[in-house]
Amino acid sequence: MVGMTKYGSFPGARPRRLRTTPAMRRMVAEHRLHPADLILPAFVREGVAEPVPISAMPGVVQHTRDTLRKAAVEAVEAGVAGIMLFGVPEDDKKDARGTAGTDPDGILQCAIRDVRAEVGDDLVIMSDLCLDEYTDHGHCGVLDADGRVDNDATLERYAEMAQVQADAGVHVVGPSGMMDGQIGVVRDALDQTGHEDVSILAYTAKYSSAFYGPFREAIGSSLKGDRKTYQQDPGNLRESLRELALDLEEGADMVMVKPALPYLDVLAKLADSVEVPVAAYQISGEYAMVEAAAEKGWIDRDKAILEMLTGIKRAGANMILTYWATEVARGL
Ligand code: PBG
Repeated sequence: MVGMTKYGSFPGARPRRLRTTPAMRRMVAEHRLHPADLILPAFVREGVAEPVPISAMPGVVQHTRDTLRKAAVEAVEAGVAGIMLFGVPEDDKKDARGTAGTDPDGILQCAIRDVRAEVGDDLVIMSDLCLDEYTDHGHCGVLDADGRVDNDATLERYAEMAQVQADAGVHVVGPSGMMDGQIGVVRDALDQTGHEDVSILAYTAKYSSAFYGPFREAIGSSLKGDRKTYQQDPGNLRESLRELALDLEEGADMVMVKPALPYLDVLAKLADSVEVPVAAYQISGEYAMVEAAAEKGWIDRDKAILEMLTGIKRAGANMILTYWATEVARGL
């Protein structure tokens, strides 16, 4: 009935007006993905002639040095912002100290040089700064006599890693081991070796997560047990703010929350309280879940991927690490 008060039987406000057409919805969208939001994590394996598929991550491979270069070029062509490199050394090169991680000719250092030679500064080249890819016990640090992860002895190894990765030409190092003091030590190591321009993406709030499962296959990890003495407990939020304060004080240029989907509240809280760029890592298990459900025909894969990534951006991420980076960037 025309002229009814707005509290009558018809609604006075109609938010649906702004959802009427695709053009209208596009115009009023508050958040949208851009290829430059995305960073591609990539694995490179030493001593293989062909890329090796990762069964728990259909579509993702352990690259050869050659196919990694191609993947980097494809990422550039798609407009992706950066690439995060993980090295997978030959099995017999893993040892208790993770020696291959600080060998200037170790697989990660070779990969950094390869990618830098191939794409130069067209892609932000990042590297995982952590020991678990290189240790035979699979922990992110070195162990003390009782088998516990030794924080301060690990920091010395991280300092060496920072230098070799920077010498190889990386733009950004990503310390991901959750050792206390790691950002400060890495910053000092970079500064003292003439790498003042190399940035640090701190894995600030990194939770001890079941969703890392497929990654362990991706790097051929032999970890037994868990990482609960260094990664955060899923029930904690305030603790992330403490980690954030410490990382910023120690010199983090960018901070990250990981995993993404189960921790969007953490991401939102951090994003609200910092003045540096914030990244989120959509990890291997998040990838695997969607691929597995899609394979069974239980979910619309492409829509699910875009919805997850949009949600991560809406929660406050400036940058998203995702194994779908190149594919999604191409489609945007
Ligand atoms: C540690 C590291 C991990 C991941 C990235 N860096 C594994 C872990 O902490 O257990 C996981 C990434 C993923 O699951 O996609 N070097």
